[in-house]
Amino acid sequence: MTATSTANSPVEGSTPLGIEVFGLAGRTALVTGAGGGVGAAVAEAFAAAGAAVLVTDIDSAAATTVVDRITERGGVAQPFVLDVTDAGNAREAAAAAAQLGGGTLNIVVNNAGVIAPAMFPKMDEERFRKVLDTHLMGTYHVSHAALGYLPDDGSGRIINVTSAAGLTGTIGQANYGAAKAAIIGLTKSLAKELARQSITVNAIAPLAATAMTETVRTNEKLAAKNLARVALGRWAYPDEIAPSFVFLASAAAGYITGQILPVDGGTVI
Ligand SMILES: NC(=O)c1ccc[n+]([C@@H]2O[C@H](COP(=O)([O-])OP(=O)(O)OC[C@H]3O[C@@H](n4cnc5c(N)ncnc54)[C@H](O)[C@@H]3O)[C@@H](O)[C@H]2O)c1
Repeated sequence: MTATSTANSPVEGSTPLGIEVFGLAGRTALVTGAGGGVGAAVAEAFAAAGAAVLVTDIDSAAATTVVDRITERGGVAQPFVLDVTDAGNAREAAAAAAQLGGGTLNIVVNNAGVIAPAMFPKMDEERFRKVLDTHLMGTYHVSHAALGYLPDDGSGRIINVTSAAGLTGTIGQANYGAAKAAIIGLTKSLAKELARQSITVNAIAPLAATAMTETVRTNEKLAAKNLARVALGRWAYPDEIAPSFVFLASAAAGYITGQILPVDGGTVI
């Protein structure tokens, strides 16, 4: 094969080798729901990998605490109050993230989430909409707002957060399963649509000990049932989930798009 040098056919041997392909130096990231749990761990891991991070959350104090932890360690981060259900607020956040990055926003992580469990006969419209609004519409609002700032140089990333519930369904949270399955469809469609701008779009399906999973981890009956589904037989710390986000955000994952990566101890196999 002859080596041609166009954006679409790289020269043989031009693959950047070395540990720096896993780093995020010079990148700017916006992480939603970054005041706690998985999002906080992702924001901290991004900053440790060299990115400047807009730490956004609906909870102002929580976002500020995460930023303080990052800056104490020499990282670059700013807090921003963002309710992902609010389109205007999402546009403000995207602009603030781009400003942090000198006009460019490289990485968007749509992580913010809530649960409102109920068996389906008791699943009223309010509960159903709340979960769809936060997960699906939140992912839409923030991705849409960020799009104009994402570069077309191969560093643009959208990383969504889905769940085993979206891949295999779940009992007592049809709203959540529906929202997370919709995020998978959105991820795959955007991956195809944004490929022409060299922006990759992937999703991670995590499993971690966070506030969201407290009940299913502490209720004796539910805890045993839930752990039985995890091949590795334990819950992860959010810190164990975050490196997979760093990988997908980095140059190392530049040829991966439209994929759903379970980081769940072998729950979905
Ligand atoms: N923890 C798990 O095992 C697990 C499993 C599958 C998927 N997930 C997904 O991972 C993501 C993070 O979950 P987590 O476990 O860290 O939960 P968490 O409850 O610890 O954190 C969620 C964060 O989102 C924020 N948030 C809630 N509503 C918001 C809104 N409208 N706008 C902005 N921020 C908002 C909260 O303030 C909180 O900081 C969610 O999308 C969740 O569905 C988690």
